Amino acid sequence: MLIPQPRGDLSRAVGAWLRAPEAADSKLAADLIDSSAEPAETLTDVDLQLSLWMLYELHYRSFEDAADDAEWSPELLAVRRRLEAVFDAGVEQACADLIGPLATAAPQDVPDRLFEFVDTYPGPSLAEYVQRHADRDQVRELLMHRSIYHLKEADPHSFVLPRLNGAAKAGLVELQYDEYGDGDGDRIHQRLFAKALQAADLDPSYGAHVGVVPAEVLAISNVMSLFGLHRRRRGAAMGHLAAFEATSSVPCRRYAAGIRRVGLGDPVAQYFDEHVEADAVHEQLAVRVICAALLAEDRTLQRDIAIGAAACLRFDAGAAVPLLETWKRGGHLVDPPASDRALAVTP
Ligand SMILES: [Fe+2]
Ligand SMILES: [Fe+2]
Repeated sequence: MLIPQPRGDLSRAVGAWLRAPEAADSKLAADLIDSSAEPAETLTDVDLQLSLWMLYELHYRSFEDAADDAEWSPELLAVRRRLEAVFDAGVEQACADLIGPLATAAPQDVPDRLFEFVDTYPGPSLAEYVQRHADRDQVRELLMHRSIYHLKEADPHSFVLPRLNGAAKAGLVELQYDEYGDGDGDRIHQRLFAKALQAADLDPSYGAHVGVVPAEVLAISNVMSLFGLHRRRRGAAMGHLAAFEATSSVPCRRYAAGIRRVGLGDPVAQYFDEHVEADAVHEQLAVRVICAALLAEDRTLQRDIAIGAAACLRFDAGAAVPLLETWKRGGHLVDPPASDRALAVTP
C-alpha cells in the first residue's frame, strides 16, 4: 500500500513525515488540529482520523513509500501522541455517559450486564436495512466501508495478547486462532473478506478504500488501535472485543440474506455466513471467559472494559447513522465503482 492522498493540511503533513520522519513536528501537528472543536467532534474530522490511521498503520503493514525507520521514530511518535490525546478525549466524551450500569455492576455480574448492554443499545439497524431494502450498489458501498477494518480483522486485538495472563490469554488465543483461519491461510477472516470484495467487483487490496471512506469509518479502526497499542487500555480492548463479537452473529445472518437478495451471491456472502456460527461462539469466549478472567484478576479494569464496549457500539452507530440516512434518500456516501458483472441471482 502507498501512503494515501491527503484529506486536509494535517494528513498532508503526516504523509510527508512518514517519508521523512526526522522532519516530523509535533508542535506543528498540534497547530493543525482544530482546537475550537469539542473532543467528540474529532470522531467526524476526516483529516485527523486519516492522519491517525496512517500513524497507526506503521505498526501493521505500513506503506511501501514510508521510511524504513518510521515505526519507532521519536518525532513521529510525538506527533501520534498529540493526535491520540485529542482522540482519546473524544472517545471519553462520546462514551462516558453510556457506561453507568456496566461500570458499577458487581464484578461477577459484568458478563450478564455486558450482554444486556449490547442487547439494549439503541443503535440503527443497518443489517435489517441491508436484509430488506438496500440495493446492490448500497451493499457494495457497505463492503468498501467495512474493508477498512475487515482487511485487518483481529489484528488490533492481537496486540493485547502479551499483556494478558492465564484464562484471559488462553481465551483470546482460542478466539484469534479462529479469526486467523484455524491454521488454514485461505480461511483467515481477512482473506475471506478480500474474496468477498473481489466477488463484488471491488478492489480487494489492503487499504484500497482508505482514501474515500468517511471519518467515522476510520475512527472505528482507530479506536481499536488506540486500545490495542496501549497496555493501560487492555481492559478497553477486551471490552471492545466482547461488544464486537456480541453484535455480530445475528447481523451477519441479515447481511448474508441481503447480499443474496441483491444477487451478489455466495462468494460475497461467505464471509458473513462464516460469522453467523463463529461469532455465536466468540461472544461467549470474549464475554464469559476473557472479560470475566481479566476482571477477576484486576477489578480496576471494570470501567475500562465498559468504555471499550461502549466505544464499539457508539462508533459503529456513528458510522451507520449517516450511511443509513443517505441511503434512505437514495444516495451514497461513497460511490462504488461501476460493475459490469451480471447479476448472479435474481431475487
Ligand atoms: Fe472474524
Ligand atoms: Fe469473531
